[in-house]
Amino acid sequence: MTDIKTVGVIGAGQMGAGIAQVAAQAGYDVILSDIDLPRAEKGKAGIAKLLARAVEKEKIGQADADAALARITPVGEIAPLAGAQLVIEAATEREEVKRTIFTNVGKILAPGAILATNTSSIPITRLAQAAPDASRFVGVHFFNPVPVMVLVEVIRGLATSPETVAAVEGFAAKVGKTTVHAFDAPGFVVNRILLPMLNEAVFVLGEGVGSVTDIDQGCKLGLNHPMGPLTLLDFVGLDTALEILNVFLTTTGDPKYRPAPLLVKYVEAGWYGRKTGRGFYDYSGPEPVPTR
Ligand code: 3HC
Repeated sequence: MTDIKTVGVIGAGQMGAGIAQVAAQAGYDVILSDIDLPRAEKGKAGIAKLLARAVEKEKIGQADADAALARITPVGEIAPLAGAQLVIEAATEREEVKRTIFTNVGKILAPGAILATNTSSIPITRLAQAAPDASRFVGVHFFNPVPVMVLVEVIRGLATSPETVAAVEGFAAKVGKTTVHAFDAPGFVVNRILLPMLNEAVFVLGEGVGSVTDIDQGCKLGLNHPMGPLTLLDFVGLDTALEILNVFLTTTGDPKYRPAPLLVKYVEAGWYGRKTGRGFYDYSGPEPVPTR
């Protein structure tokens, strides 16, 4: 089995940085790459803040936080990923973006190394066509916020080898995650269930059935969800949610996945949620304020 010592992460956004953090805290050397060095460095700076907060709360020691941070090398190019035995892609949820990345990774990936994707929805067998070796290509789907959420979905494409699955399961266990397996269908298990619910919440809002507060309080207090669906959409990113729904719709042709018109409008307006300062809530003040 592939002995993983160095993990490459492509994409230093909220998911990629989270994966880099848990891998570094588990003792892996991490190469955190993005399209330019400042973006990769920004991802590492975010990790530094979260580690500092964990030290403040006495969850981890200062020496462990320093050691984890020192294991992360930010880079603004793909070439250094040649040093990794496992490369996890966590870039934008757009198929053409991921395919371009896999083609470029294919030129430098070390012999025997595994290429994994953190795609939220795109079938692994389809994406494997752009990967250097479909038998060493696999889905590893983390959940946001990665340091907190315990689940990793492992998705095997048609050609993924059992050795590849075993290697990523070993990695997931070492970073403290529990795995479930999903068949290679759009959205796998969890997002297949979650996204229609989040989308329905936007239909409910758009039809005026309830306000942002009614919907979020309703689900928090009535269903015991830790966050209401509109808060969760702001957290995940409305742009990402729309991309996922469009993958469901185009892959299955089933109209039950059509995105709520208000979700499309918000994305067109650039209101992606927390990351842009506005989504279903306005984040410009000290507390999020519902916008409808
Ligand atoms: N990064 C790292 N740690 C974080 C964090 C972040 N962004 N946000 C919160 N935390 C940590 C806090 O430090 C705290 O840690 P501690 O217990 O060690 O002190 C712990 O999480 C709890 O945080 P808080 O007390 O501040 O707040 P909550 O109790 O409200 O918990 C939450 C925050 C864990 C985010 C909780 O609201 C929650 O579970 N929300 C739902 C998250 C969810 O559903 N995620 C899945 C999204 S779908 C997805 O990712 C799939 C993708 O493909 C779309």
